Amino acid sequence: MKTRRDFLKTSAGAGLSAAAVAGAQPLMGAPAILLRRNSPVAVASSNGLESVATAVGVVEGGGDTLDAVVQGVNPVEMDPNDTSVGYGGLPNADGTVQLDSSVMHGPSRGAGAVAALEGVKMPSRVAVDVMRHTDHVLLVGKGAQRFAISMGHPIEELLTERARRRWIEWRARMSDRDDYLTAEESGYPPPPPPPEDEGDEVDLFDSHDGVRPHGTINCNVVNREGDLSGVTTTSGLAWKIPGRVGDSPIVGAGLYVDNDVGACGSTGRGEAVIKTCGSHSVVELMRAGMAPQDACLEALRRVVRFCVAPRLQDEQGRPNFNVNYYAVNKNGEYGGAAIWSGAGFAVCVAGDARREDSAYLFERSG
Ligand code: GLY
Repeated sequence: MKTRRDFLKTSAGAGLSAAAVAGAQPLMGAPAILLRRNSPVAVASSNGLESVATAVGVVEGGGDTLDAVVQGVNPVEMDPNDTSVGYGGLPNADGTVQLDSSVMHGPSRGAGAVAALEGVKMPSRVAVDVMRHTDHVLLVGKGAQRFAISMGHPIEELLTERARRRWIEWRARMSDRDDYLTAEESGYPPPPPPPEDEGDEVDLFDSHDGVRPHGTINCNVVNREGDLSGVTTTSGLAWKIPGRVGDSPIVGAGLYVDNDVGACGSTGRGEAVIKTCGSHSVVELMRAGMAPQDACLEALRRVVRFCVAPRLQDEQGRPNFNVNYYAVNKNGEYGGAAIWSGAGFAVCVAGDARREDSAYLFERSG
């Protein structure tokens, strides 16, 4: 029997080429999707308008699909003003920023992920390194950070002044039985806001979609050849219990890519997506023949069926949180859907990057 070392010797250290993988037996159950796409398509969460344009630009220039989506999300990870992703993300309950990310490369069937990673501004790049340089899929916590250092990633402070101030205000408002004072309770005039915060109203307990602030970016692309890749990256739920891991770095939950079928990623309440294997469900529904938007809606109905705890329901028994899916199939057909109306997603088709409304299960009143 050949060892891995023998294999590496005979292949001169090269990994499996996409062509070699493509020549393998097709997956059982893969649908006969006719390729009728004539341009690359990228789809992303609504904060990914520039990301989809970048991703399509990279694959149009002959670049790899995974490089395309990672390059697409890197500026969002580096943006100190985006408090839901990478540098500048809102911290956990201890005031430490912990990041989650996963990547999947369709042609090589590769996957890599990191969770609860501290000190690295672009966790998606570490996820790529896990995929490229290890036989593992997911590294977490201190081990993920040691691995990142070994790959040359600098360790930096990720907590910006804006995120730190929001965290101390949240901590002070948690209870009136502890010794932390809110700005009103202290009696002193509050310090001037950091310049980037001026005019920026943020509810520390409730974001626009009815849950504690948390955001994420997901971006998926299909090129002219029908090859797909995807990435999801986030700072996760604001004020989370240290060590909490959401759906974003869980392959099959916050991201799934099957090069025979399509790609999907998610944003929103990660616990609900993990319990229903969300992105994997969407891809399997597309494999069975559903259009991307319909597949997203059906996977969201599963989220609703799993939402039986009263603490997670509104007065009509519906989820009091949101989940969003973004999907593209091998044909370049795409769609986005959310539990609640009012959500959107970014898409780039034929060089035109735009936002579109997501389909939804329930209409928000008011
Ligand atoms: N969907 C991001 C999270 O729950 O962490």
